[in-house]
Amino acid sequence: MQKLWGGRFKDSTSEIMDEFNASIRYDWKLYKYDIKGSIAHARMLGKTGIISEDESKIIISALEEIESEIDKGNIEFSVKHEDIHMNIENILTNKIGDLGKKLHTARSRNDQVALDVRMYSRDKVEEIQGLLLDWIKALVEVAKENIYTVIPGYTHLQIGQPISLAHLIMAHAEMAKRDYQRLSSWMEIHNTMPLGSGALAGTTFPIDRYMTSNELGFDGPCANSMDGVSDRDYIIDLLSAASTGMMHLSRLCEEIIIWSTQEFHFVELDDAYSTGSSMMPQKKNPDAAELIRGKVGRVYGDLNNILTVMKGLPLAYNKDMQEDKECLFDGVETWEKCIKIMIPMLKTMKVCKDTMLADAKKGFSNATDLADYLTKKGVAFRDSHKITGEIVLDCIDKNISLDELPIEEYKKYSDLVEEDIYDTIDVFNCMENRISMGATSSKQVKVNIESIESFIKLKQYR
Ligand code: ARG
Repeated sequence: MQKLWGGRFKDSTSEIMDEFNASIRYDWKLYKYDIKGSIAHARMLGKTGIISEDESKIIISALEEIESEIDKGNIEFSVKHEDIHMNIENILTNKIGDLGKKLHTARSRNDQVALDVRMYSRDKVEEIQGLLLDWIKALVEVAKENIYTVIPGYTHLQIGQPISLAHLIMAHAEMAKRDYQRLSSWMEIHNTMPLGSGALAGTTFPIDRYMTSNELGFDGPCANSMDGVSDRDYIIDLLSAASTGMMHLSRLCEEIIIWSTQEFHFVELDDAYSTGSSMMPQKKNPDAAELIRGKVGRVYGDLNNILTVMKGLPLAYNKDMQEDKECLFDGVETWEKCIKIMIPMLKTMKVCKDTMLADAKKGFSNATDLADYLTKKGVAFRDSHKITGEIVLDCIDKNISLDELPIEEYKKYSDLVEEDIYDTIDVFNCMENRISMGATSSKQVKVNIESIESFIKLKQYR
């Protein structure tokens, strides 16, 4: 079979080469973008007189028909035509004859593929931004129900200070907000159109790149044709945002996994997001959370893949760059799937408030409050810290908690300690007394919730 580029060749490519060279197995996913881009290109060719208006119309309506045939699954692509671009061009020419061969005037597959991949990425950015807003809403919902739920806050996974569950959940909402914003900045940087860059140097035809850019919803055509066809930084930036977003999800997953252990028993995952064991009949495993944690490795791999492919490539296009697609598709689709499952998993998770409170009382989580109490009575903080440390040691020896230590014992360390110490070191009060901006008290958490809610509103009605 003669290739679309076959004129200069005496012999045909080997079957194994066709198989190796082809990207249609995965780049068929770009068909809608390819057709959209070709329609804009054909319209521009007609408008500028590079082809006739009539020719342009015939090409456009044939492309529209091809799209609906592909939608219906009536078209079989072939590795013989290498990629989605040549498959569609070939179908077009079979359909309307020689006129189909005019579509590629003033265009190269190099700017065509760069355009398609950029449009795919842009759509995914918007889709994921929508999902992230849903995710933030789910977090806010759970936070609102747990403004007064006290849990131990950890550093080094050792009990540190009492916090509210809402405060921790809202920390994750802040991370998700930045994941959203990272995608907004992607849009600001990368919404430029490579079409019209040609193979690398532009074209001798009087094309109108502003016309195609407007039709395709770009902020404008890229300023340099070499750059337009040869960089894939927009994929790198997107997979980098995906990696960070996945890393954030995995941290909450890790917490959920720990919380759902028998040892912690802070939460119970819904049956719908857990699985059993084939041998141990009693088991209920947090598989969804574990899978999300595991899939981060995959997305990091995707990012590493494209970074490595691009390193050291001379300008402009190189076939290496065909390797940009599988990692892009895999990375963003994995991220999407993970957000989609996080939302119902979190919303259906049962929170065991009693266990959380009981654990918040362990580990001398109120020791900082005792030190602060002494400091407020005039003891220098370093000294309060030392005295409190000694009291804690004493309690460890006696196997009691700070609130079980009688007032006379406290007095042995400092006569500044009064009966009101017991109120001060009550873990609920410890949480509520942290009123500094951004802190864990209900007052401050509500401020945090309000600010995230107005962010969601602002973005939703954009
Ligand atoms: N399938 C190719 C890719 O994905 C399209 C561009 C091919 N260009 C070329 N000069 N061979 O990168």
